Amino acid sequence: MVRAFDEVIEMNKEKDVQVISQQQAKSVFETTRLNLWYGETHALKDIHLTISENEVTAIIGPSGCGKSTYLKTLNRMVELVPSVRTSGEIKYRDENILSKHYQVEHLRTKVGMVFQKPNPFPKSIYDNIAYGPRIHGIRNKKILDQIVEKSLRDAAIWDEVKDRLHENAYGLSGGQQQRICIARCLAIEPDVILMDEPTSALDPISTLKVEELIQQLKANYSIVIVTHNMQQAARISDKTAFFLNGEVVEFDVTNKIFTNPHDKRTEDYVSGRFG
Ligand SMILES: Nc1ncnc2c1ncn2[C@@H]1O[C@H](COP(=O)(O)OP(=O)(O)OP(=O)(O)O)[C@@H](O)[C@H]1O
Ligand SMILES: [Mg+2]
Repeated sequence: MVRAFDEVIEMNKEKDVQVISQQQAKSVFETTRLNLWYGETHALKDIHLTISENEVTAIIGPSGCGKSTYLKTLNRMVELVPSVRTSGEIKYRDENILSKHYQVEHLRTKVGMVFQKPNPFPKSIYDNIAYGPRIHGIRNKKILDQIVEKSLRDAAIWDEVKDRLHENAYGLSGGQQQRICIARCLAIEPDVILMDEPTSALDPISTLKVEELIQQLKANYSIVIVTHNMQQAARISDKTAFFLNGEVVEFDVTNKIFTNPHDKRTEDYVSGRFG
């Protein structure tokens, strides 16, 4: 039905087979009956969603539908807003992270986040990457050097910065800064990477680089990406959740969402009829 996606869908057919064969994939996050309020605003309504290991899960939906809120609930960053109240359950590797007794510090070492606007620290490229490992007590220069190199290589930016590691990260282009932020996230060896519109501030070439990188990273990480770019969701994700007014309207294998959605509202959204 959505002609613009024909090509992407053809490419993804193979991927679909993989997804089906992985249906036993372990879940990393299991969200059950999640509700969230900012004061009186009911921003997430009865969310049920499973994030699976070594998959890219895309979250799509119009502005204000709760995508960022949901992402920030997965690392409990949303609690930085004082008026926030939640109910329900989010299990991360079988432990309920919304429980009062849950050690949020543990979650922060396991779940990394990349934001819409590249946000390197005003420090050298090296110090940006070494920041997390240093916080975790690593002082040995040789080990830090190794972590910095590996993280930059894994973020596909080593060759571009290896001769300027001690220059300020602000001197890099936006696309390079975003890959530095991804490298900074990898340096703490997370289990899951959350990305909130990570390419919306980037040019098409940098966007492509980050998309390729995401495809490579899923061999070792589980990734949740919020995107307004429908082609991007179709290109890089295994599963897609369509959010509307704080609810999950539909969650399925990406090809299904884009070619044969179950709900009329999903069809309208992915075909550009609203939002
Ligand atoms: N800090 C906050 N305080 C109060 N309400 C908030 C806060 N952050 C978000 N909201 C409200 O929660 C709802 C969901 O917002 P959210 O930022 O999650 O949407 P989104 O889907 O990420 O939108 P966008 O695509 O524009 O980024 C909106 O109604 C928004 O106004
Ligand atoms: Mg948002």
